[in-house]
Amino acid sequence: MILIGTGSAVPDFTLTNQMLESMVDTSDEWIVKRTGIRERRIAKGKATWEIALEAAQNALADAGLDPLALDLIITGTVTPDFFTPSVACMVQGKLGAKNAFAFDLNAACSGFVYAADVADSFIRSGKAKNVLVVCAETLSRIINYQDRSTCVIFGDGAGAAVFQASDTEPGILARYMRADGTLGECLKARALPAETDPFAAERLAPPELRFLEMSGSEVFRFTAAAVPEAIETVLREGGCTAGDVDWFVLHQANERILRMIVTRYGLDPRKVYMNIERFGNTSSASIPLCLAEMRKNGLLRKGQRIVLCGFGGGLTYGAILIQI
Ligand code: UT7
Repeated sequence: MILIGTGSAVPDFTLTNQMLESMVDTSDEWIVKRTGIRERRIAKGKATWEIALEAAQNALADAGLDPLALDLIITGTVTPDFFTPSVACMVQGKLGAKNAFAFDLNAACSGFVYAADVADSFIRSGKAKNVLVVCAETLSRIINYQDRSTCVIFGDGAGAAVFQASDTEPGILARYMRADGTLGECLKARALPAETDPFAAERLAPPELRFLEMSGSEVFRFTAAAVPEAIETVLREGGCTAGDVDWFVLHQANERILRMIVTRYGLDPRKVYMNIERFGNTSSASIPLCLAEMRKNGLLRKGQRIVLCGFGGGLTYGAILIQI
């Protein structure tokens, strides 16, 4: 499969580190030093499906593809607007992509690499020719802006990619998808509480139950092992060294993780794309947000090899080596 278009959408409102200083006991210096983040976007009333739709429309315009040509739409999200309809179905309906089937995929910050792998499977099997992967998050809806351990990290945004079947281009050279559900408690956002009495008169969950909780240092430790494992596996299976790769596009969770990859493989730091400074951690949207920005700025060229690596809630992780 080949990548034929990318697009993104971010909300207008910018939450800076200075603003956060007046909300919780934190400092611009701590946030920049520990995470690399300076600002993030906040949706403020916009739904996940709305930014997903905008990113999808931009990706289709970039690809020059009519929505009617889409066979499948996969949305990566952990912040859907409804349990049903899915964000993917809402996007499908608004696009008028009536030949596509559509579903959401929850792999948290690994959402884009998981979805790209699923897209590749449908394309390889001949069941789909054109697949839209759109990842969108409005994490601000599940963030407690009194909890400094999470509110400085996360932001809202959406990114999309259009993949197409190709008989001539190699596409995905290697893939590696994993999960470790035993560590799921380290990064958690509840959906519905288990109720001892579903017939009780008062059934509303306390509001704090909706907030995301993260044991940052535990996730960091997991990531420090999982990311190299995933990257080394796709390099080995793809018959490449890190030096043969044009770009490493990793989930933008923490600048320290991205720098660790630069040091570990002795890379030119410019090969590890970063925009965490401006958008924070947007979960599943972070990798396609990077790809859209890179393509817009002319950094992606035919024949380049790119490693995509996602990691996060679940806990999930995975990598893809793709030749575009
Ligand atoms: O996207 C999904 C995947 N997620 C990740 O990969 C996240 C991985 N984790 C991280 O990026 C980092 O763990 C964080 C950025 C979340 C936290 O950085 P850390 O270096 O692991 O900090 P920590 O949680 O170990 O806390 C160090 C200190 C603590 O104070 P004491 O106990 O040493 O006095 C915290 O209370 O920093 C304190 N702290 C803060 N101080 C100022 C925690 N958050 C803040 C804050 N401002 N916002």
